[in-house]
Amino acid sequence: MAAPNNNDAAGGASASGTTSEPAQEDTSIEALARRVQEHMTLASNPTARRHKFWETQPVGQFRDAADHSLADGAIEPPTPLSEVRADPYPLPAAFEWYTCDLDDDALLTDLYALLAHNYVEDDENMFRFNYSPAFLRWALRPPSFFRAWHIGVRAKESKKLVAFISGVPARIRARDDVVRMAEINFLCVHKKLRSKRLAPVLIREVTRRVHQENIWQAAYTAGVVLPTPITTCRYWHRSLNPKKLIDVGFSRLGPRMTMSRTVRLYKLPDAPLTPGFRQMELRDVAAVTRLLRAYLAKFVVAPDFDEMDVEHWLLPREDVVDSYLVESPETHEVTDFCSFYTLPSSVLNNANYATLKAAYSYYNVATKTPLQQLMNDALIVAKQKNYDVFNALDVMENESFLKELKFGPGDGQLHYYLYNYRIRNGIKPSELGLVLL
Ligand SMILES: CC(C)(COP(=O)(O)OP(=O)(O)OC[C@H]1O[C@@H](n2cnc3c(N)ncnc32)[C@H](O)[C@@H]1OP(=O)(O)O)[C@@H](O)C(=O)NCCC(=O)NCCS
Repeated sequence: MAAPNNNDAAGGASASGTTSEPAQEDTSIEALARRVQEHMTLASNPTARRHKFWETQPVGQFRDAADHSLADGAIEPPTPLSEVRADPYPLPAAFEWYTCDLDDDALLTDLYALLAHNYVEDDENMFRFNYSPAFLRWALRPPSFFRAWHIGVRAKESKKLVAFISGVPARIRARDDVVRMAEINFLCVHKKLRSKRLAPVLIREVTRRVHQENIWQAAYTAGVVLPTPITTCRYWHRSLNPKKLIDVGFSRLGPRMTMSRTVRLYKLPDAPLTPGFRQMELRDVAAVTRLLRAYLAKFVVAPDFDEMDVEHWLLPREDVVDSYLVESPETHEVTDFCSFYTLPSSVLNNANYATLKAAYSYYNVATKTPLQQLMNDALIVAKQKNYDVFNALDVMENESFLKELKFGPGDGQLHYYLYNYRIRNGIKPSELGLVLL
């Protein structure tokens, strides 16, 4: 069997950019003890590098991992709004902050281009995420979004967009606690400006603007290890167009496999198999919200979706997000739901192909149809729509269908983080009910 890919176009960010800065001399006994402790941690755990920036932030710190006295919940209390810094953080002199207006087509084109040329690549630099302009508008403007959280950095002289970070508001439940958070995404610094400590400035600035809205927590993902993941997930990939995936180097032909056997292995029926399987429509929002809320309640960390959220995040939009459900042919009850979003990757340096069309599993709920059958129908519609690959994280109950439906494990990991919120000991991927774009 062909091992569907070693190259993870998804979230396998290889950027780390951790340059070391000289530590300030501090000769107190505590500081000395701390340094000895850190040295020992560093020696025994290569991932525990020093994080000059992240060590100053209210996030779970590696050194606290064994401290069972720390309680779950906010790490720091909110500060009075009057104490939130009023001015933007200073940037190097040649640059300026630029709050982005996504209604502005020219800005959207610039943002699209910045990300298309500089955003996440796989470890071998063969693929780069290529979020479409329509996707960016959707991802950045959910109900009650804040324009001030769409933060660009421009070169003062040329006005060229050279960096970006964004947040969108969300209600996320951690155990019994529903918390207003920012979901931070699309952190990007132009390749020519890397390793200059611009990322911490962007992160501080988005944090400041989030605080100004009286919001004190955030959720984010990264391919790099930072202090401290609440969980670490793996992407799995299901070939839909194995020939192309092999041609572009996304997958390899398995040992003792021919191309025609591989194509046969991944062949799918022409149309979905479950009676009543159809696209979600506006009239389904209430039923889908009920299904999703009941399902997401099972997980330790999950979004707290209302109907407005479901309408925004899950109502189908061409080449952005697809949602299907099963409506019982007899009772007309909506019993099952599945969805995926569209995130192509540019294929770098390939003469024959410019992009890979990838579907990413989003939220799926099965109450009557077996989950495996439901997801098989999702694969079938994705194949009908010409996707090359269907990706899924091992979150929620996805492990129950991945192997059976011929997904193979990718080699990139995706770490989930919460800002200013501690979940002691972390959680398992299967306890996570949150998918960030
Ligand atoms: C991620 C990116 C913005 C970091 O910028 P950089 O120039 O490499 O790094 P800088 O010198 O500005 O800053 C380094 C600091 O940012 C942190 N950092 C790097 N990547 C990060 C990420 N994805 N999320 C949060 N912090 C990150 C580093 O850990 C380091 O802080 P530390 O010393 O406390 O560890 C840049 O590499 C980039 O645009 N990469 C491609 C897109 C990408 O991977 N985006 C992130 C998607 S999750």
